[in-house]
Amino acid sequence: MERIVSGMRSTGKLHLGHYLGVIQNWVKLQHECESFFFVADWHALTTKYAETENLKNDVRDVVIDWLASGLDPNVCTIYVQSLVPEIAELNIYLGMITPQNWVERDPCLKDMAKILKTKEGNASQINYGLMGYPVLMSADIMMFNATAIPVGIDQVAHIEITRDIARRFNNIYKTEFFNEPKPLLNDCSLICGLDGNKMGKSFQNDIKISDTAEVTAKKIMSAITDRSRMRKDDPGHPEQCEVAFKYWQIFGDKEQVETVKCECEKGLRGCADCKRQLGALINEKFAPIREKRRYYEEHPEEVDRIIREGSEKARKVARKNLDEIRNIIGMY
Ligand code: TRP
Ligand code: SF4
Repeated sequence: MERIVSGMRSTGKLHLGHYLGVIQNWVKLQHECESFFFVADWHALTTKYAETENLKNDVRDVVIDWLASGLDPNVCTIYVQSLVPEIAELNIYLGMITPQNWVERDPCLKDMAKILKTKEGNASQINYGLMGYPVLMSADIMMFNATAIPVGIDQVAHIEITRDIARRFNNIYKTEFFNEPKPLLNDCSLICGLDGNKMGKSFQNDIKISDTAEVTAKKIMSAITDRSRMRKDDPGHPEQCEVAFKYWQIFGDKEQVETVKCECEKGLRGCADCKRQLGALINEKFAPIREKRRYYEEHPEEVDRIIREGSEKARKVARKNLDEIRNIIGMY
């Protein structure tokens, strides 16, 4: 059986892009693989080290969204990175054997540096912790000796570095202890934001899993449609309807999509009505998830218990591996 590890940075309440692109896949995978899912709060600190006032709540919010979406702590292991300090020790060992130019050429890191630069308006300093991002990520993965990592295409370069580090460790210490984990790309459709760009918290174009039905309906009404359409009985062009029709294709069944397409093309469907229906459909789909979410929100002590117990469970596996790793290296 594959053993998978994957994480998300603690960014707070998650949006439909996270749900469709990542969580849904995890929910399925938890039944097929031995699964470890964690909140990467140390990785969040690599850029947000000075903004920690919401960190605790952000961690809890991420886990609440996971639980509401169907991750089951009795099936997979859910934990918080910083509650498994063994990862930090492994990070030190991996740092010792990682050539500086491996991290310097990491394309994800270059992107992050660019974002930081524009945000801070100067040739910003990249701190030591951010430089270590791919090494820490390797420690996350290698701590559990995962065989496969479910990630988005943007993270594949990181998995490549992990494979390189695992191979180098095995070579240096003449062992076969570490697997070279492979990326597990999922083929789910990417959902764009309400403005047609990539959905993201910072772009304010997202719909949150935790949004109420009212907020969701209102947000959907602001979604971009076929811009060439002036009156509601003008024939529309679903393929040029950059957001609303795309959402129909994601959330509707075949029949619904066909009806929308036909009625739109014939000018029998106004965009406002169309989006009202779409909002209702999305709300229907997320109603059970949101209800479950409310339950956990009202029972934070239960969420904290799940996090504590999951982290304990993860630590047991980590501790055992770390003892062996220390032994392989030759530590006292
Ligand atoms: N870097 C990943 C992201 O931003 C999060 C992450 C941290 C991760 N450690 C990981 C993902 C280990 C997979 C495995 O999405
Ligand atoms: Fe898009 Fe619906 Fe308007 Fe057609 S009627 S352009 S599918 S929102």
